[in-house]
Formats: sequence, C-alpha cells, structure tokens
Amino acid sequence: MKKVLSKMIIKYLDGFSENEVEQLLEIPPETKMGDYSLPCFALSKKIKKSPVIIANQLKSDLDNDMDKGVVSEIQNINGYLNIYLNKSSYIHYIFEKANNLNIGISFEFKNKVICMDYSSPNIAKNFHVGHLRTTVIGNSLYKIYRKLGYKVIRINHLGDWGTQFGKLIVAYKNWSSQDKVEQCGIEELLRIYVLFNAEAERNPKLKEEARSWFSKMEQGDEEALSIWKWFKEISLKEFKRVYKLLNVEFDYYIGESFYMDKVPALVTELKEKGLLEESQGANIVCLEKYNMPPCLITKSDGSSIYHSRDMAAVLYRKKKYDFEKCLYITGLEQKLHFAQVFKAIEEMGYDWAEELVHIPYGLVSLEGEKLSTRTGNIVYAEDILKEAIHRSYKLISQKNSNLKNKEQIAEMVGVGAIIFHDLFNQRIKNVNFSWDEVLSFEGASGPYIQYTYARAKSILRKGNVEKANMQINVNMLTDEVSYELVKELSKYEDKVEEAALRYEPSVIARYVWGLATSFNKFYHDCNILNAEKSIKEARLVLVYLTQKIIKDAMDLLGIQCPEEM
Ligand code: ARG
Repeated sequence: MKKVLSKMIIKYLDGFSENEVEQLLEIPPETKMGDYSLPCFALSKKIKKSPVIIANQLKSDLDNDMDKGVVSEIQNINGYLNIYLNKSSYIHYIFEKANNLNIGISFEFKNKVICMDYSSPNIAKNFHVGHLRTTVIGNSLYKIYRKLGYKVIRINHLGDWGTQFGKLIVAYKNWSSQDKVEQCGIEELLRIYVLFNAEAERNPKLKEEARSWFSKMEQGDEEALSIWKWFKEISLKEFKRVYKLLNVEFDYYIGESFYMDKVPALVTELKEKGLLEESQGANIVCLEKYNMPPCLITKSDGSSIYHSRDMAAVLYRKKKYDFEKCLYITGLEQKLHFAQVFKAIEEMGYDWAEELVHIPYGLVSLEGEKLSTRTGNIVYAEDILKEAIHRSYKLISQKNSNLKNKEQIAEMVGVGAIIFHDLFNQRIKNVNFSWDEVLSFEGASGPYIQYTYARAKSILRKGNVEKANMQINVNMLTDEVSYELVKELSKYEDKVEEAALRYEPSVIARYVWGLATSFNKFYHDCNILNAEKSIKEARLVLVYLTQKIIKDAMDLLGIQCPEEM
C-alpha cells in the first residue's frame, strides 16, 4: 500500500524518489488521524517551504487527481498529510494478500545464501539457558530469512576442540569410569572437569599431563581421539534431546575440530600477506590501528585457538557456500572476539568481511526464582523445558479437563511459552525469567496467543468454515473494531521484513501479541456466530485470516499452535 501511495504522491513532488516517500509514510497511532500519514517536515528542507504549505499544495493536487478507488479522503493537519483509504477496497486488498500468504513474501532474495552459525554448545559442558537463547533466536531468524526467499544454511559450530579436552581425559582416567559416564552423561563430565581444576591447583603435574593429552589429540593419537569422540557422542545425545523438544534442526554439525587442520594454511596465507607477527612465542595479527587487542592465531606450542579456528571456518564457508551474509548468534560477551576475527579477515584483503555479522544477545538471569538444578547453580535448558511442560500440563488440565491429547498440547504450550518469553524481549536486553510471566494466560505470553488461536479455530469449526470465502460484503467490516483488526493484519509483511533487517525476532513476537489482542477485542465486541447472515459471513472471513496470520507468525518464532486448548 505504501508503494501505491508513494507512486501517487511523487507525481506532485519534484526531486523525491518513490522510495524516499515510501520510507517517510507512517501509520498514525489512531485511525482517526488517517490510515497513512506523510509528515511534510521531512520535505521542507529540500523544497524550502513550510510543512503546512507543502501539505496544503499536495492536498489540493491530490484532491483533483487521486484514485478514488484507493483513497477516500486527504487532510492537512499541521503539516501532516493524512490519508484515509477507501475502506472496502483496502479490506479487499488486505484479505487477498493474507489469503495468499503461502506464496511467500518476496522474490527479491531468491537463491541468495545466508550462513547462520548458532546454538553451538560446548562438548562435555551443559546446554544452558544462554544456549537456549542463541538456539531460539537463530531458529527464528532462519525461518524469517527462509520466508523472504533466502537459502539458509544452518550450522552448529560445536565447541569440540581445545585444551579442556586434555584435562577431561586426565580427569576421566583418574576419577571416573565408562559406566559412570554412560549413566550420567554430561553431569559426570562436568563433575570431573570441576574436580580436575580443583586438584590441579594443588598438583601442577596434572596440568602437564593434560597438555600432553591435548597435544596427542592434535597429533592424531588414536586413544586420545577415541575418548574425545566418545565424549562428543555422549554430549550430542543430550543436546539433540533439547533440539527435539524445541523442534530445531541443523543442516550441519561441524564443530571447531573440523577446522583444526585448516589453520596451518591460514598461517601460511597470513605470512604471505605480511600480517603474521610473533609475540612471546605465539603468532598474532596486530589490530592496534583499530584499537583492538591482537588476534591470536597460534599458541607458542603451535596449536590452533578459538580465533584462528573461526577464521579458518569462515574462509571455508565462503568458498563452499559463497554466502551473501554469514551471521553469528552468541552472547554479548563475545563481541570483541568477533570484531577481531572480522577485522583480521578484512586485513587479509577479503572485502566480503563486511558481510559478516555478529548478532549478540543479553544475559538470562534467574534471580529470585527456584529452578530445578542438578548441580549447584548450573541450570540445564532441558530441565527448564521439562518443568514448563509439566506446569503447562497442570494448567491446561485445570482449564479444560475434557481436552484430548493433553500431553502433546502441554508440550506445545510449555515449550512455546519458553520460546515466546525469550523472543518477546529485545535481543540485546537481559531477560529475567519468571514462571508467572512465562506461563500467564493473560499477558504477553505464548499461551495467551496459542489460546487466542485455539479460540479462533473453535469459532471456525462452529461456523463450518474451512477456507476463506472471498465473495463477502467487506462493507460489513468497516466498523471501528473490525477495521482495526484488518489494519493489524495489513502490517504483517512489513514486520517480517523489519525483523529480518534488524535481526530481531521480537518484532514478530510483539506484532503477534498485538494482533491477538486486537482479535480478542473484536471477539469481545462483535457477535460472530449469531450475527445476521452477511455480517456473520464477513466476520468469519476476518477470523479465518487472523488465525492464519497468527499461525504463520508463530511458526516464524518456532512455536507450534494446538488446534484446541
Ligand atoms: N561454543 C561457543 C559458546 O558456547 C559459541 C560458538 C559460536 N560460534 C562461533 N563460530 N564462534 O560460547
């Protein structure tokens, strides 16, 4: 619609492009002030006239020459050109679009590739609430970009290499057994890792042993590698349980170990390009001119490091996928790490370094809340998800004891609640976790939206509606409440694009919450099933299209919606 309007307006605006006008058009907070509005302040600098004069001139030009099928009225209020659409043709336009949602939003990005690096937990360490955030943000961005037509490559860059594995092997040999690890999994691996660190304080010889086991790993020693591989299998089994609960999949699980043997080629290239410097026996790339500490490439014993493995990884990805963009989703604390890696790549002369984007997120705090924990303060994502499912089961049973498939629905509600709570918050903000908020059926929560969806579905069942009947009289929907809901529907595509542009799933979470709220107001104020025939038919189409968009938006967040609740 913005495109249609800006085309109409630029005919009378010298020196402005259609795009510029489109960017300026706003949706006023209240329909009273028009459906769209052009703030003429933004034009006065170039045109050198006051906003009021510009708006007046535009109004009189457009009054004589506007498509009355699209626009019904134009007003100049204090330099704002307020545009009122022809309601019935607008409703028709929005309905057609909403009904054809499955066709996809845009073809602009077809065949462009985005690599996404997210989740990426560390082997032998717990999958914690921070990893839950990168996983759900990544999964949602994947769905958003896919909807825009991109080909998205989902990469799980497992933390599966590094000196910690030398320590773990020593710890395993001293204080654990095959049975214990098989039985307790990551919990046991964590226990012995903590033990190692405590013991090594007293007995430095242990550190020496750990170093030597890690260098055995780097040299391909069979025993060392088979223990490491086994730890990896044990850990992946646990991670995959979380992914299954979350309904998340990856195209590749390629961890840091994969790039270990690609670092020597990186070192050679850096040397050839005159970028490698020696510092206390280690190899570095100096980033002083960017005010950054140096990027470490190899340690004094020649082994690779987190930074250089990331550099090797991105060179590999660029070659293999020729990505348009490569996105990394991690906690804010890794900001410097990625800034160094990206700069070092740029220094190597790769202009595509500007296509590398770090997408940071804030901390999750669990203050004041007793969450089930296994060892001390460590909170496992799996425990939180299970607890949410358990609590949801109780809640939905209380609400509707006749509900069939309660277990399945409790899983969608519990997991959906956790995901929604996470994504509703702006990515960069810290999240405070509270069960009351997560599982409330009233506030901005996953269950509230799922419940709204189930309500719409139940109305459609009662009204025998299976698809949208476009032969309705849209004039039956021009009352204030219905029209507000139509306008909410009309915002969906822009919101998807905005979410992609800002790497911000919260745009969609907030949108779908607003949509559900508008729908519930409509449901409350407007009789649907007992209304007169032509009104009932029109309202049912509005219900149909609303549930369709709710479901589509929730899917973009990675949340399933039960048909009944
Ligand atoms: N394994 C890291 C962690 O748990 C995240 C890895 C992110 N990806 C990357 N390419 N460095 O914090």
